Amino acid sequence: MAMKNLGGSYTFPGTTMTVNRMGYGAMQLAGPGVWGPPKDVDQAVAVLREAVESGVNHIDTSDFYGPHVTNQIIRQALHPYEDGLVIVTKVGARRGDDKSWIHARGRQELIDAVHDNLRNLGLDALDIVNLRMGGMSDPVEGTIAPQMETLAELQQQGLIKHIGVSTMSATQIKEAQEIAPVVCVQNFYNVAQRGDDALVEDLAKQGIPYVPYFPLGGFTPLQSGVLDEVAKDLSKTPMQVALAWLLHRSPNVLLIPGTGSLGHLRENLSAAELVLPVEVIAKLDAVGKKQ
Ligand SMILES: NC(=O)c1ccc[n+]([C@@H]2O[C@H](COP(=O)([O-])OP(=O)(O)OC[C@H]3O[C@@H](n4cnc5c(N)ncnc54)[C@H](OP(=O)(O)O)[C@@H]3O)[C@@H](O)[C@H]2O)c1
Repeated sequence: MAMKNLGGSYTFPGTTMTVNRMGYGAMQLAGPGVWGPPKDVDQAVAVLREAVESGVNHIDTSDFYGPHVTNQIIRQALHPYEDGLVIVTKVGARRGDDKSWIHARGRQELIDAVHDNLRNLGLDALDIVNLRMGGMSDPVEGTIAPQMETLAELQQQGLIKHIGVSTMSATQIKEAQEIAPVVCVQNFYNVAQRGDDALVEDLAKQGIPYVPYFPLGGFTPLQSGVLDEVAKDLSKTPMQVALAWLLHRSPNVLLIPGTGSLGHLRENLSAAELVLPVEVIAKLDAVGKKQ
């Protein structure tokens, strides 16, 4: 099937996987606090199906969303998966009974997490597994070698096709690349959160996708007078402008905005067509520069 255009496309390096730059993040499909089932499972299924029908072929998930729930909904909605759909998952955390997020970075924990993802997604091999290190949203320096070596072993066993990394510093990404090829980097970044500006460009030179999480601000949606003003002038929403700015930021930026709402899904996907005038980009560039 011909690929619909959603913000242009990008190929994960060293792979045959080409995806539209506008993808979808599935974390919001679980219940409140990313815990338990959503209020309306049918709606969650409908959001996923419409995303794929509209051209989304890059879905980001994890088995610790829910836990298990998000992957099970993806399987219910989309299995058997169509050719060309790339499902990216992540390991390195688990959930406590009190809904907390706990590091799970021991060898056996990583192996178990890969098997949980395989079982709940209904796959024999995972397309891309991101090794999630760091704190809640920022990298924490220190070696990532033991974890990366475990994922490389699972890759050699054929359970993982490709490896990505998440919430890592430039130094840690280099260390990871010495152990196995890294096909994408997923860090916290958006128009107001620009700590990774240099990294985005360095990865672009290497042909590696940079996939910002919380592209709309995450649990606390972006609030900016400049975004509001620009959106009003363009007759778009602030969220569409925030996504269009990211698409403009660098060709290696791939988007995975999250939503449990069909209305927001449509709004977000249509941001792929929004071309921002030069003077608007200059105004938006200034939003995060202060930090
Ligand atoms: N690697 C990591 O550590 C990490 C961490 C966090 C997230 N992620 C990944 O990144 C993806 C994106 O992050 P995210 O979903 O947390 O944050 P996000 O995409 O920045 O924002 C999602 C939030 O914005 C709302 N929203 C979405 N579209 C909207 C619109 N058009 N207008 C108004 N509100 C809108 C959503 O609520 P509604 O549901 O009501 O639309 C939700 O509350 C996740 O799905 C996950 O796959 C990875």
